[in-house]
Amino acid sequence: MSNLSTDFSIAGAVAMPLRVAIVGHVDHGKSTVVGRLLHETGNLPEGKVEAVADMCARRGMSFEWAFVTDALQVERDQGVTVDVSHIRFRIGARGFVLIDAPGHHEFLKNMITGAASSDAALLIIDAAEGVREQSRRHGYLLHLLGVSQVAVAVNKMDLVDYSADAFAAIEREFRGYLGQIGVTPSFLIPVSARDGDNIAAPSTRMPWYDGPSLADALSQFQAPLPASGQPLRLSVQDVYRFDNRRIIAGRLESGRVEVGDEIMFSPSNKAGRVKSIEAWGASPAPTSAEAGQSIGFTLEDQIFVERGELVSHLDALPTETNVFRARLFWLGHRPLTEDQTYMMKLGTTESSVRIQKIEHVIDTGDLSERAADRVDRNAVAEVTLRSRAMLALDPFADNPRTGRFVLVDGYDVAGGGIVNMEGYPNQRASVTIKSTNITAVENRVSGEMRATRNAHHGGVLWFTGLSGAGKSTLAVEIEQRLFRKGYHAYVLDGDNVRRGLNANLGFSPDDRAENIRRVGEVAALMADAGLIVITAFISPYRSDRERARTAAGEGFHEIYIKADLVTCENRDPKGLYKKARSGEIDEFTGISAPYEEPESADLIVDTSDLSIDECVDVVLRHVARHFEITPA
Ligand code: ADX
Repeated sequence: MSNLSTDFSIAGAVAMPLRVAIVGHVDHGKSTVVGRLLHETGNLPEGKVEAVADMCARRGMSFEWAFVTDALQVERDQGVTVDVSHIRFRIGARGFVLIDAPGHHEFLKNMITGAASSDAALLIIDAAEGVREQSRRHGYLLHLLGVSQVAVAVNKMDLVDYSADAFAAIEREFRGYLGQIGVTPSFLIPVSARDGDNIAAPSTRMPWYDGPSLADALSQFQAPLPASGQPLRLSVQDVYRFDNRRIIAGRLESGRVEVGDEIMFSPSNKAGRVKSIEAWGASPAPTSAEAGQSIGFTLEDQIFVERGELVSHLDALPTETNVFRARLFWLGHRPLTEDQTYMMKLGTTESSVRIQKIEHVIDTGDLSERAADRVDRNAVAEVTLRSRAMLALDPFADNPRTGRFVLVDGYDVAGGGIVNMEGYPNQRASVTIKSTNITAVENRVSGEMRATRNAHHGGVLWFTGLSGAGKSTLAVEIEQRLFRKGYHAYVLDGDNVRRGLNANLGFSPDDRAENIRRVGEVAALMADAGLIVITAFISPYRSDRERARTAAGEGFHEIYIKADLVTCENRDPKGLYKKARSGEIDEFTGISAPYEEPESADLIVDTSDLSIDECVDVVLRHVARHFEITPA
């Protein structure tokens, strides 16, 4: 991407330059600001301004600072297709890279893919035009991508007679907007790039402004925290075989790694110890490596790992999940709709993902949220995605490099987003097997023998549904009816199990996943013992219910006890919805925590439609059909 090495900056940068994205509405004077800033800070190559001035004179045009920027751009972009340009310059001892994208669309795309990832941003607003839809959108994007250092240059102050009032009005409006999305601009500066006011020196025409010039503001931005201080994340690019050695190649997204470190590969959950680090051409071989480097390394013991795995240390593991929420920018020509499948790229992982739900579309203009069944080009939406494979990732807020993904439609980047795990569990605990040296014992009493004696098969009637849908009511009623008919049946109920076996679990996503994992295993054991187990748990996550199904095998029946939220809330048997609405209970299913409806339940019992007796009959018929042994 950065084939743009024809640098005109002073060579020999000491520290990492500060990456500043420059954004703003197309006509608001980005190029003029850049040209003038480079000029005033002594960053233009000798003769550049004169050359552009001559060219203007020859063509009978008036001189524009934007032409200087354009001329630089043209030189550096020659022969390469770039959609981001990097302009390097210095202010005093400090190095900067201005990252610019030619259009709104390109800008969005590059911000999302990380090509334009930056430490700070400079947003340009035209004083005469004021805050535009695009100014808001860009502000929103910066907030979303976690760019917290923002300077706003209110340009073309000459067009409003350098009026303090005009500036104050824009300042009020834009600060108000940014404030709503949690961005506090570090600086708002009235400038006139054409004439150089407040670019690198205070303007005599705006004595009412006593803040820093644009150049001073940029100089005051904080240097980025080095990614090497964050937990280790290395995405595996490839595994090569040399002689008998396997060299694992990858890029250090964050943190550092040393020879001798114990590391984990996710999502395969294989552990190993680093034997050597191989950096090409380096002699002697390094003993450590850090963020930003691409390295190869070998392990003490051979384990089979593949491209796409994420390497970490054991005490700071990434999240494992196959479902997550995302803030998504849609750039595709075709709108995004629910149930569509895309190829997702996250680090070096490629996985097929389905849009499980469009939660809402966000209007970046007024920040309103609305329900929608499609997301159009250039829109922002909150969505839930489900991937075919287990993924290793981080919430974007924890680690931007491993919490950002793009969706590909055909060959095109059609959208991109940032991961938010709110409401969803880390499934690592549910898939990790810690026990070793285990040998299974075979029972001598088979399931068939038990079924013959009981006159019915064992199995699980897995009730799932919102709180108040009627799971417990139906479960105990059915248990009693089955008992009377001679069945061996037993109810496992959330509110009961949570007093004993699961008394140490609360209602966080991780605790709910563990709750269901344990109940799934217990139910499977009881079913194996020949019982018909009726479980009454909200069990809000599909992945957990799928694991319960896997544990119990064939005799597992997912039964959706269905009632919509309004019905459940009206019933409110325990008064919990009321408490949840008033904020007394956090993470309440249906209100402030997700519920994933079954997609292919074995039976659906609609309790808002049928009486209790009717519901009981529906389930009893299902049991008779599937569990009874018909005498030969
Ligand atoms: S689950 O989500 O982990 O499957 P479970 O079925 O065990 O939940 O427990 C749900 C019951 O706990 C509800 O019927 C309700 O009585 C109670 N409860 C307490 N706090 C919550 C909460 N935050 N969300 C849902 N149910 C809650």
